[in-house]
Amino acid sequence: MSDRKKVRIGIIGAGAVSDYHHVPGIRIDNRCELVAICDPNEALLEQRKSEWGVTKASPNYQDIATDPDIDAVIVATPNFVHREQSLACIENGKHVMCEKPLGLNFQQSAEMFRAARDKGVRHMTAFTYRFAPSMRYVRHLVKTGALGQPRHFRSQRFLDWDETSWGWRQYKDKAGAGDLFDMTIHRIDFSQDLMGPIKSICGAVAQFAPRNKTADGKDCPPSEVDDWSSLIGIFENGATGVWEGSTLMKGHHNNGFGYEWAEVNGSEGSAAYQLTDPNNVIIGKHGGTMEKVPVPDEFLVIEGSPRDGHKGVPSTVFRYDLVYEFVSAIVEERDCVPGFDHGAIAQCVADSVLNSFEKRAWVDIQSDLG
Ligand SMILES: NC(=O)c1ccc[n+]([C@@H]2O[C@H](COP(=O)([O-])OP(=O)(O)OC[C@H]3O[C@@H](n4cnc5c(N)ncnc54)[C@H](O)[C@@H]3O)[C@@H](O)[C@H]2O)c1
Repeated sequence: MSDRKKVRIGIIGAGAVSDYHHVPGIRIDNRCELVAICDPNEALLEQRKSEWGVTKASPNYQDIATDPDIDAVIVATPNFVHREQSLACIENGKHVMCEKPLGLNFQQSAEMFRAARDKGVRHMTAFTYRFAPSMRYVRHLVKTGALGQPRHFRSQRFLDWDETSWGWRQYKDKAGAGDLFDMTIHRIDFSQDLMGPIKSICGAVAQFAPRNKTADGKDCPPSEVDDWSSLIGIFENGATGVWEGSTLMKGHHNNGFGYEWAEVNGSEGSAAYQLTDPNNVIIGKHGGTMEKVPVPDEFLVIEGSPRDGHKGVPSTVFRYDLVYEFVSAIVEERDCVPGFDHGAIAQCVADSVLNSFEKRAWVDIQSDLG
């Protein structure tokens, strides 16, 4: 990086996810710097200026989108503004990493993909779990044929959240959907990364909690979105998939990390990933027993990442590699992985879950990005 200027990053949305992994990811990567932030919550903006050590701050996202001294933007706002904010940044030539779900539906996400592609900027969907060491190693085992022909994929994501208000996350016009767009969409994405495209699905969602009270006991409009989401599906390669997610799985709190299991069963063997133990995988061969094996060192971080793969809270620190991938793609002038195309295709499958449940029918995935 000595002969090149640093990638100057702006963040739109100074909430939880920016603080949890985007800002730490920027801090450890000396090829980039955080130069500006935006959030309409002025008190939070002031707090973040001092916490994150940044002087340029605005409540208006257009100030970030049009700032000539910003090269790249991380959009980490409520789902309903991802589209307009990302499009404004793209129009002004900024590279964009946007949080998932990219939009409120496939049409919005596909539009975002086309805009970024046509403008020639880098685009990335923040699908965090692709960066977990164990997920990367399971992928390696699948792609090198170590498990034989992949036959089944399954994922379970169980959280034990309070049944009080989720804020913007519980209204359809702000979030699009509940657990499905918040949690299961990640698993839809990484299943396709492991197994290839999903061909058709049958989905279901359910809502149990009214969430008509805030955590401090105030009344609020009730939730409109799912607490539980599930699908079964067939991949184009003939493999089958089963996904289940819920935020109401009592006893699965586990300091907020919940429970996560994702597994591939092939004709020769099986391999499983757990979010709560991401530096180990569980592997078994035909006739044997599933056993825990450490992830080899070369899979603990993505290539070049400044992280020490053996340091930090394992379920947290792999998330810093998202920024590393975003900046690498900018510096190396190549596509980010996962891009907006992956975000849009996962969203097409997630939309199809709602569509399938409404019709009580199987749905073929039609994710033509145009
Ligand atoms: N990739 C992951 O693992 C992961 C984890 C958590 C959240 N997320 C996603 O990140 C996004 C943000 O989630 P969060 O948990 O940080 O939410 P949050 O509510 O904590 O933060 C959102 C922030 O955006 C701000 N905001 C609202 N409207 C805005 C606007 N018009 N312009 C600029 N800022 C605005 C809010 O004031 C708030 O500070 C969501 O899309 C969510 O799905 C992804």
